[in-house]
Amino acid sequence: MFAANVLTGSKPEQYAQLLAQAQALLHGERDRIANAANLSALVNHSLPDLNWVGFYLYDGNELVVGPFQGLPACVRIPLDKGVCGAAARTRTTQRVADVDAFPGHIACDSASRSELVVPLVVDGELFGVLDLDSPSPDRFDADDQAGIEAIARAFVASLA
Ligand code: SME
Repeated sequence: MFAANVLTGSKPEQYAQLLAQAQALLHGERDRIANAANLSALVNHSLPDLNWVGFYLYDGNELVVGPFQGLPACVRIPLDKGVCGAAARTRTTQRVADVDAFPGHIACDSASRSELVVPLVVDGELFGVLDLDSPSPDRFDADDQAGIEAIARAFVASLA
């Protein structure tokens, strides 16, 4: 049985603990849906002030919603739309302090105020994105970005 541990210390220390939990959860399993589902649950239950955590998976044409925690979401996102599309298209993390100021932001959950989207690239090919939404403006700082990018790398590594 899995028990989510309470994270303690500075934010980088908390993310190191979260990464260790993620690696334990992914250990020995390569299934992308299983690993995406469990990581969504882990992150959602471990970090405060989030209203949506999950994966969009690239189908070769657009992003399609995958395992997540939160309210039902937009099913398909073209690469030229939204924060998720921008992360996928540019293959760079998008950290958006105010989603209302982001051109083309897609409001799946009207509660979302800030967003962090990390691209997932497997063997040079776009795999999808890991998306975190918060009801608070400017929820995500550089520590959050580094921490979630490390968890995204662990997910990519788990597929090998
Ligand atoms: N807001 C995202 C869409 C996905 S939801 O937040 C779950 C975007 O603009 O890409």
